[in-house]
Amino acid sequence: SLANPLRPAILAASRSSRVKRAVTGTPVTRKLVDRFIAGDDRNSVLRTVRALLDSGRSVSIDFLGEDTRDEEGARATVDEYLQLVAALGALPEAAPGGSGVRRLEVSMKLSALGLALPDRGTEVATENARTICAAAEAAGVWVTVDAEDHTTTDSTLSIVRELRRDYPWLGAVLQSYLRRTEQDCRELAGAGSRVRLCKGAYQEPESVAFRDRAAVDASYLRCLGVLIDGSGYPMVASHDPAVIAAVGPLVTKSGRTSTDYEHQMLFGIRDLEQGRLAGEGKQVRVYVPYGTQWYAYFMRRLAERPSNLRFFLRSVVSR
Ligand code: FDA
Repeated sequence: SLANPLRPAILAASRSSRVKRAVTGTPVTRKLVDRFIAGDDRNSVLRTVRALLDSGRSVSIDFLGEDTRDEEGARATVDEYLQLVAALGALPEAAPGGSGVRRLEVSMKLSALGLALPDRGTEVATENARTICAAAEAAGVWVTVDAEDHTTTDSTLSIVRELRRDYPWLGAVLQSYLRRTEQDCRELAGAGSRVRLCKGAYQEPESVAFRDRAAVDASYLRCLGVLIDGSGYPMVASHDPAVIAAVGPLVTKSGRTSTDYEHQMLFGIRDLEQGRLAGEGKQVRVYVPYGTQWYAYFMRRLAERPSNLRFFLRSVVSR
């Protein structure tokens, strides 16, 4: 969380290739990595997905990777998503042509689809995202575009807006730590609009983001209020007990039912709470990452919680 004094250092390390070599070269890392990552390949993630679906939860699957520097890399990511979507489309939970909530979703990062390429980044990422959306539509699978660091917010939201003309179910992610987000919530709270609200996981400057934890939490609750009062489909992505407790009264006041919004949590985090909410008849979607490019994702999870880092360091040092 933002209360973690080591957070800036860990997030800086998440961008360092030297630290990456040290961390990924340590065999003990694997144990903690396995807590957050559902496997190296599609077959292992599909086993996890089966178990989550059977337990009454929905899923959003992320093929790990970010900051692609070349078009071939972006193309390879698209190919993996197409195979993933095809595999999901073969599950009984797939909903081709369905207009209701789709239990199967994929999440993707535009930086993995080429957004950061020199010159043609926006076009390449848009076309790649469109290819995945078209396949997802045919398979009865939803797509949500992850939020990355603040330098990509404008381009990401404008790409989502453009693709929503053809794929109105395409979801966006907003981060409550950004000062702009309450306004973005107002703009994206319209009918049919799916918005995943999270606190935000990157290291951002004071000029664009709230830095203290209380301000981020307060912003989250304001943004949540805007989305729930709106007419879209709010996706409440948080493990925070205070956030989860706030949802019920807001939902009741707005007259929404349990199918008009959903809770979302990350694979490996508060699994019991996920099961408890699902057991109460609430919709719960689990974000399930897989693939070998887990380093940056893993470091963001370490940065969120000092005890994760302590556990990690203790296991490295005690060898
Ligand atoms: P907070 O950090 O206050 O944590 C509340 C409690 O949750 C903790 O006390 C602990 O019990 C538990 N917890 C939280 N993080 C933990 C961890 N790493 N390990 C163990 N326990 C933990 N961010 C982003 O920038 N772009 C994105 O696209 C997404 N996408 C996304 C999807 C989904 C489904 C979720 C749940 C989250 C994201 N995030 C994200 C990450 C998000 O921005 C945020 O960093 C984390 O969810 C942690 O914030 P919480 O709201 O959970 O609260």
